[in-house]
Amino acid sequence: MCGIIGYTGPLEAKKLLLEGLAGLEYRGYDSAGVAFFDTDSHIRLIKQVGKVASLKEAMSKIKEDSHCGIGHTRWATHGGVTVENAHPHQAGRVTLIHNGIIENYHQLTEEFCLEGKLKSQTDSEVAAWVLDSLYEGDPLEAIKNLVHRLEGTYGFCILFADRPGEIYAVRKVSPLVAAYTHSGAVIASDLTALIPYTQKYFVVPEQEIVRLTPYKVQTYNLETFEKTSPEIMTVNWNLDAAMKNGFPHFMLKEIHEQPEAMKNTILPRLNRGIPDFSDDRIPDSLFAECSQVHIVACGTAMHAGMVAKAIMEPLLRIPVTVTIASEFRYQDPLVDERTLAIIISQSGETIDTLAAMTLAERLGAKTLAIVNVKGSTIARESQYVLYTHAGPEIAVASTKAYSVQLAALYMVACRMALVRGKYTEEQAKAFFSEFLDVIPAMEEMIERKEEMKRVVTHLINSPDAFFIGRGLDYAFSLEGALKLKEISYIHAEAYAAGELKHGTIALISDQVPVIATATQDVLFSKMISNVREVKARGAFVILLTKEGAEVDENLADVHLTIPAVKDQFTVFPIAVVLQLIAYYASLGKNLDVDQPRNLAKSVTVE
Ligand code: AGP
Repeated sequence: MCGIIGYTGPLEAKKLLLEGLAGLEYRGYDSAGVAFFDTDSHIRLIKQVGKVASLKEAMSKIKEDSHCGIGHTRWATHGGVTVENAHPHQAGRVTLIHNGIIENYHQLTEEFCLEGKLKSQTDSEVAAWVLDSLYEGDPLEAIKNLVHRLEGTYGFCILFADRPGEIYAVRKVSPLVAAYTHSGAVIASDLTALIPYTQKYFVVPEQEIVRLTPYKVQTYNLETFEKTSPEIMTVNWNLDAAMKNGFPHFMLKEIHEQPEAMKNTILPRLNRGIPDFSDDRIPDSLFAECSQVHIVACGTAMHAGMVAKAIMEPLLRIPVTVTIASEFRYQDPLVDERTLAIIISQSGETIDTLAAMTLAERLGAKTLAIVNVKGSTIARESQYVLYTHAGPEIAVASTKAYSVQLAALYMVACRMALVRGKYTEEQAKAFFSEFLDVIPAMEEMIERKEEMKRVVTHLINSPDAFFIGRGLDYAFSLEGALKLKEISYIHAEAYAAGELKHGTIALISDQVPVIATATQDVLFSKMISNVREVKARGAFVILLTKEGAEVDENLADVHLTIPAVKDQFTVFPIAVVLQLIAYYASLGKNLDVDQPRNLAKSVTVE
């Protein structure tokens, strides 16, 4: 999604804006631009299609200093990838950048007779022209009147031609964080662009306007313009955490960080060997009184929910439903006041997930959010929040966030079993003691990464790949397929192994790669039969089992094993295997591992 950076202060703004945009590249984008006040206090505008590097090249020709400006990386929503559609957009005295979607921009185009003025196909430029039409010298008044006319979502940073050195901002749903630092005033769409300058920041409150000057950051009530004081928060990770630190890619670094992330998420919540959420201010009544659990998320987070369902239902004997957030919103879901809605989101800014949470609450559900980014919108707006402590996840392909989401869900499952009488204290302790075995198992698979590297030679030239499994193995095959397709662009599909012969096996032909996961003892023989079925049709089979599994040596083309943790915990070492297979496949195809095409790290538009 779009990245936003704004700065005003004593430092050289162009350099700082470019550094900020570079820190936001991981969000995914297709063009970039900056606008800044030059030494004559005129606003200069530079926009480029492509990477921040080409914007930097274009800006290197400008020698004069600047101390106030805004920068933007665009992930196209309205209009193609062109220089005209790149931000910032200039409209009369207004220059602005925007993250979000203005839903009534056609109506505004007509109402303000903008047809002849527009240079782009974007909703953002329409907003700029409307603001210019409303501007009569008072930025706060003009912004208030603009907001009253807008429908949709936005995070705006705005320059007014007659206000050199000042930046104005306002948001609705799209994220913005800001700070006044020893280097001046900074605002951005997320913390990665802020942490080089400060550990203290605030989330720009909705329905408030922010004015940044070189000496102060002030927020105002949108309607009354009364000065307000937003809550100051502390960044819970440092700059190193958001850097590669010697790894070739963020994704590989984050795969390696998983054991540490698991410890940071789990250990602070263990009380006499049992998960305890007292410090998270999550009451046991939340788990004891619900009659059903409804998990809502997108992408990898939703796949974590699928694993949770496979664990929770046998344990708790209540319905556990998993719904894709963008579907949940429009389904009229069966949710009531006895529903526990678990909302999973790494970024805490995914708009579909946020909207689904709002709907669940409106239907009476209690909401528990499992979120990695502290202070994010979903974290702030849910009734209860269970933070994971994976640190910043920069690679678009989620890895450590998936593992810690699962860890949080396993802790919730264990706590729920205890408070609902499905587990005695001894049983809960035993469950969790065995659960902790997954951390050394993950460390071992990371150490054995060369085994996964060798596997991909059979994958990277194939247009398709199939991931098959049963029960829990199917639930995490979904994630394996997503990882592979999103960073290697190989069409990958996860399939319940028993379902293959009802159609999809027609696609299995000579050397089609099939990654078969068989870690569940109770389903092992069935899985082996399914492997034989695809093998008989020429598939190239990569079989994943626990070590010690008895497998005919000529059954699979490649047989990878994981440490023999208990069946209900195999997802953790297997996740490392599937992540590394995807990573090395992407590398083998010389693709952009950390910033795959078309994708964004946080999907803040519908
Ligand atoms: C996962 O590799 C993807 N990057 C994507 O599916 C992601 O999990 C999804 O967009 C949800 O994001 P969130 O966890 O930040 O809400």
